[in-house]
Amino acid sequence: METNLPVVLPEHIGIIMDGNGRWAKKRGLPRTAGHKEGAANFRRIARYCSSIGIRYLTVYAFSTENWSRPALEIRALLGLFQEYLEESIRDFAHDDIQVRFIGDTSAFPQKLQDLIQKTKELCQGRTGMVLNIAMNYGGRTEIVQAAQALAKKVKDGVLLPEEITQELFSQQLYTAGQPDPDLIIRPSGENRISNFLLWQSAYSEYVIMDVLWPDFTPEDLNAALWEYTKRSRRFGGV
Ligand code: IPE
Ligand code: IPE
Ligand code: MG
Repeated sequence: METNLPVVLPEHIGIIMDGNGRWAKKRGLPRTAGHKEGAANFRRIARYCSSIGIRYLTVYAFSTENWSRPALEIRALLGLFQEYLEESIRDFAHDDIQVRFIGDTSAFPQKLQDLIQKTKELCQGRTGMVLNIAMNYGGRTEIVQAAQALAKKVKDGVLLPEEITQELFSQQLYTAGQPDPDLIIRPSGENRISNFLLWQSAYSEYVIMDVLWPDFTPEDLNAALWEYTKRSRRFGGV
């Protein structure tokens, strides 16, 4: 499979793991069946990205807006996070993957928070791909929290308003110290950002694909990588 890869790979890929519900509906299954397949695919694709040498992968698993879904669906999703995180931790150890979480995880049940904490501890000292799992993540909330943190510093007299720069602002975000995503892939065909990495994606290349997330294969990822190599990134220049 690796032989089908372009020479130049993006350093940081973001994936909006969308389309689980429609995948299930197409098969006459409950939406939760789609989430189960989607969770399994998350493990597969994360390991694939690590195997081809991607340095940073950020996956959107649950947005701040997803709390508006039916309670039953949310409960099923939280159960799957618990189950798949436990299994993924074992897998990811083989790949030396450093798992991090972005988003307000304090809103999750204690058992899940404990698992998140345990995952972070297990990942200490690893040097492989950084895998950011966005859970209860929202780009706007992230930006507001950064503004609040900086405002507090100004109020405390340790920072002057004119000292607030883009770099300093970036350091207040969940992704502090990481490069911005070069490529953001959205399966399921939706042409929107849905509150994902708003600040960080200022110059990301978007690749929207018609495949639903549970059906998304390493070959689809390769296709997105080839599409990425065709883009001319100008960053406002010529
Ligand atoms: C993505 O799949 C999973 C989450 C948002 C948690 P969806 O559940 O949004 O699937 P569709 O978009 O309804 O098909
Ligand atoms: C984005 O998908 C969030 C995740 C994949 C976790 P949604 O399904 O929530 O986005 P919308 O509602 O189609 O914008
Ligand atoms: Mg969706």
